[in-house]
Amino acid sequence: MTDQQTYSNTALRLHWLIGLLIIANLVGGLVHDDLPKAIVPTVMGLHKASGILILFLSVFRLYWRLTHRPPSSAAGLKGWEIGLSHLTHWGFYLLMVVVPLSGWWMSSIGKITPEGQQRWPISFFGLFDVPFLPVEATEAAGGFWHETHEITAFAMIGLLVLHIAGAIKHQFDGHPVLHRMVPWLRAS
Ligand code: HEM
Ligand code: HEM
Repeated sequence: MTDQQTYSNTALRLHWLIGLLIIANLVGGLVHDDLPKAIVPTVMGLHKASGILILFLSVFRLYWRLTHRPPSSAAGLKGWEIGLSHLTHWGFYLLMVVVPLSGWWMSSIGKITPEGQQRWPISFFGLFDVPFLPVEATEAAGGFWHETHEITAFAMIGLLVLHIAGAIKHQFDGHPVLHRMVPWLRAS
C-alpha cells in the first residue's frame, strides 16, 4: 500500500473504532467522580470493559501497522511537520497499550487496607470476568499504577489535541490529510 493515498479499510476501521472508544474512556474516567453515586459502578464497569477491549484491539492494530506500510506522508509537508506527526502517531501506539494496561494493573491490585486486599471483578460487558494480572499487591504499587494511569491518560489528551490541531492545520494549509482517514471524504 506504499503508493496509495488513503489508508486501507482495516486501518480506517481500527482507527475510528479504537479512537472513539478511547475518547469515551477519557470522558468517563475524567467525569466519574462528579457523577451521581448510583451510576458510578455502571460507568466504571463500562470503562474497564471497553479499556480491556481497547488494549486487545490496540495490540492487533500495532501488529497490523508493523506488517502493513501506511500511505506515504501527505505531499508538501515540511520536515518538522512530518517528524512531529510520526512522533504523535508512535506516541499514540505506545499509550494505546500503556494506558489500559496500567488500568488493568491498578484494578488487579485494588485497595490495600489494614484488613487486606480488596478488589472488584472486571466484567467484560457481563460476558465473563477478566482475570486479574498476577502482580505484586502493595499499597505503594497500587499508588504507582494509579498515578501511571492518570498521567499517561493525560498525556494521551495532549497527543489528541496535537493530533487534531495538526490534521486541521494541514487541511487548511493546502496539504489535506482528512480524506485519507475520514470515510465520507475518501472519494473526494
Ligand atoms: C484518541 C483518538 C485517536 C487516536 C488514538 C488516533 C490515532 C492515530 C494514529 C496512530 C494515526 C497514524 C496511523 C499510521 O499511519 O500509523 C492516525 C492518523 C490519522 N488520524 Fe487519528 N487518532 C485519533 C483521533 C482522530 C481524530 C478525532 C481525527 C480527526 C481530526 C483523526 C484524524 C486522523 C487523520 C486525518 C490521520 C491520517 C494522518 C495522515 O494521513 O498522515 N484522528 N490517528
Ligand atoms: C484506553 C483506555 C483507558 C483510558 C483512556 C482511561 C482513562 C482514565 C482516566 C482519564 C481516568 C481518570 C484518572 C483520574 O483522574 O484519576 C481513569 C480512571 C480509572 N480507570 Fe481508566 N482508562 C482506560 C482503561 C482502563 C482499564 C482497562 C481499567 C481497568 C481494567 C481502568 C480502570 C480505571 C479506574 C478503576 C479508574 C478510577 C481510579 C480512581 O479514581 O480511583 N481504566 N481512567
